[in-house]
Amino acid sequence: MYNFDEIRNRKDTFSTKWNAHASDDIIALWIADMDFPAPKEVAEAIKSRMDHEIFGYTLIDDEFYNVFIAWMKKRYNFVVKREHIVTTSCVVASLGIAIASFASKDDGVLVMPPVYPPFLDLPRLQGLRRVDVPLIHEENENTYKIDFDLFEEKAKEAKIFILCSPHNPVGRVWTHDELKRMADIIIKNDMIVLSDEIHSDIIMPGYKHLPMGSISEVLNERLVSIYAPNKTFNIPGMPTSYNIIPNKELRDKFTNTLQSLGLTGQSITSTLASKAAYKYGEKWFDEVLDYIHKNYLFVCEYLKENIPNVKISKVEGTYLAWLDFRALSLGDAELKDFLLNKAKVNLKSGSDFDSINGLCFMRFNMATSRLVIKDALDRIKNAIEGLK
Ligand SMILES: Cc1ncc(COP(=O)(O)O)c(C=O)c1O
Repeated sequence: MYNFDEIRNRKDTFSTKWNAHASDDIIALWIADMDFPAPKEVAEAIKSRMDHEIFGYTLIDDEFYNVFIAWMKKRYNFVVKREHIVTTSCVVASLGIAIASFASKDDGVLVMPPVYPPFLDLPRLQGLRRVDVPLIHEENENTYKIDFDLFEEKAKEAKIFILCSPHNPVGRVWTHDELKRMADIIIKNDMIVLSDEIHSDIIMPGYKHLPMGSISEVLNERLVSIYAPNKTFNIPGMPTSYNIIPNKELRDKFTNTLQSLGLTGQSITSTLASKAAYKYGEKWFDEVLDYIHKNYLFVCEYLKENIPNVKISKVEGTYLAWLDFRALSLGDAELKDFLLNKAKVNLKSGSDFDSINGLCFMRFNMATSRLVIKDALDRIKNAIEGLK
């Protein structure tokens, strides 16, 4: 049994999450990494390689691919062919490379805000047109659904669709019916899908992640499925990304972009971390997932009992909770300032995910010790009481 209650100071490690603020008294729950040590076999593999002290150019061996293929088969009964996989340094790099490979200036890129900010930024940074199909907030059910009428209409204006599956930040795990409907529209409009499935392993009990690649053979010809061990095993500081591209023409274009930008290859630590994680990390992962699920139940219960005017969307997947603070009647910037400087909790602003419908929402990272979560919620509760 691992002890996920343990709190380790991350401030001395150049942590993006914990070193974002000068004050030591702020609880950091914004960026999406876990505060838990990775499976111990990851550090063991790296330490043992470091002992060699020669760090020359290094091959990515067959095992790097085989452990991922075995994971996909075991967890999803999804068969991945080795020759379909192209690796990149991380998932955001994969998205950027794919967009650069398949779209030309002024092409449309369809996204469903609120969504992970690089989905919104990459098209703009590459001089493309962003085509938004906002998710519909079903407030009574505390969840979000796809606006299929708008999706169908907007698909006509887009060349690429970036799917977030499961969806960060609203926590949806898309059903077979939803994936199939999206696939049909994609095929009808001759589009290409980039399916970012980095959160696919983090699924709450009662839900099931379906790889987009398992939905339709026809769709597979226009699909890039993007996976990574980074979130699952908490190794985003040693990142990699496995891109499954069944269509040879698309795969060649993607590889050409990688080569033309000189972006092939990855560090020794990334290769070793991914291999050790997929090979030995399953028991650790099952335990951490159970702990995160209990954190989620704890957050729901705490809010209901103590801060009922802060609403939480149903989390079906990811370790991220999407909180609705609109009932506090603070402005968006005021809310951020209030949480950071009064409650001393750093959450990620909803407006980063959707500049219209994300206002006064916050994303709360639940992948930390339950003691830290309790402390953060107590601080938020006390600060809200101080408003009265
Ligand atoms: C949907 C999604 N894609 C990609 C990433 C980042 O992946 P990477 O660190 O491998 O670039 C994140 C991180 O939060 C994410 O939520």
